[in-house]
Amino acid sequence: MPKIPDHVRGARFTGWGTALGHKVVTNDDLAKTMDTNDEWVRERTGIQRRHIGGSTSELSAISGAAAMKMAGVDPSSIDALILATTTPDRTVPGTSATVQNLLGLSCGAFDVNAACSGFVYALVNAHGLIAMGAERVLLIGTDTLARITDWTDRNTAVLFADGSGAAVLEATSGRGHLLGWDLDADGSAEEILYAEIGGNIQMEGKEVFRRAVRIMVDSAQKSMAHAGVTADDISVIVPHQANIRIISAACDRLGIPMSKAAVVLQETGNTSSASIPLALFADLGQTKPKQGDLVLLVGFGAGMTAASAILEWGAQ
Ligand code: UT7
Repeated sequence: MPKIPDHVRGARFTGWGTALGHKVVTNDDLAKTMDTNDEWVRERTGIQRRHIGGSTSELSAISGAAAMKMAGVDPSSIDALILATTTPDRTVPGTSATVQNLLGLSCGAFDVNAACSGFVYALVNAHGLIAMGAERVLLIGTDTLARITDWTDRNTAVLFADGSGAAVLEATSGRGHLLGWDLDADGSAEEILYAEIGGNIQMEGKEVFRRAVRIMVDSAQKSMAHAGVTADDISVIVPHQANIRIISAACDRLGIPMSKAAVVLQETGNTSSASIPLALFADLGQTKPKQGDLVLLVGFGAGMTAASAILEWGAQ
């Protein structure tokens, strides 16, 4: 992926919001209906509980409204809505159109499906719109994976859940916060993680795990090289929240201590497109960036996709 050319109009986050499914499901709850247990799920994944419920448009409207409120912007001033999701309410139309109407927006709206890398894909696309003259883009990552999970399959049911995270991205007169980015995909790996239309998620967990660590590290290193920074410069890493052991292995290989990782999966489970914005924006006691920090966002997902970005937190 190319470096960001000089003199491109930059952007920064001015508001954000999050939403979780209303029903809390613990590992013990799952153990009542399938052959699993709290100890196994905590040790092998890091997940303690997850939140389930709501549709993709409902959760998106909650997080999106909170983001606009924090930014102090009127719905009429949003120039575009990008919704990252792999679980749209309907096949047609895009769920972004439903959310556009729920939020009272009067702008273009489109869905991005890059699975768990979706929020970073959408973030890079939103910067492209701002470079083309848009002033304000509402960016939402939402997934309701409970709807496409087989609740009798312990290989997947212990992992997936519902959630949403949103941000208002506004043009800035300065350089903006995005210093480097990378988007990747390898469609030859499609069969290890997929859901047919109308079907549930099918996954070869071990193979996904193995590849996930490799492609996260590879994408993060590309973004750091494009930004001209090294692992030592990163203050906070915000990884896709799939498995604490994947996060730990990726941090280890990148040379970034786990103490710098924003981790919320113990509370949220794997919420796919919502996972990175929840880890960045939710108030769940995780490591959070401060003014001036360099933040590395890095996701991987079905496809297999990978995406990363380096942000200078609070940059003008
Ligand atoms: O957004 C991307 C989505 N997907 C992922 O990121 C998934 C990546 N993969 C993973 O996170 C892990 O591979 C899993 C959590 C899915 C599985 O963990 P693992 O350490 O790879 O376990 P395993 O499949 O090697 O299974 C180890 C043992 C097996 O028993 P035996 O053969 O050793 O007796 C499994 O049958 O654990 C058993 N097992 C379970 N036991 C209790 C598998 N799932 C469960 C379970 N509860 N839920």
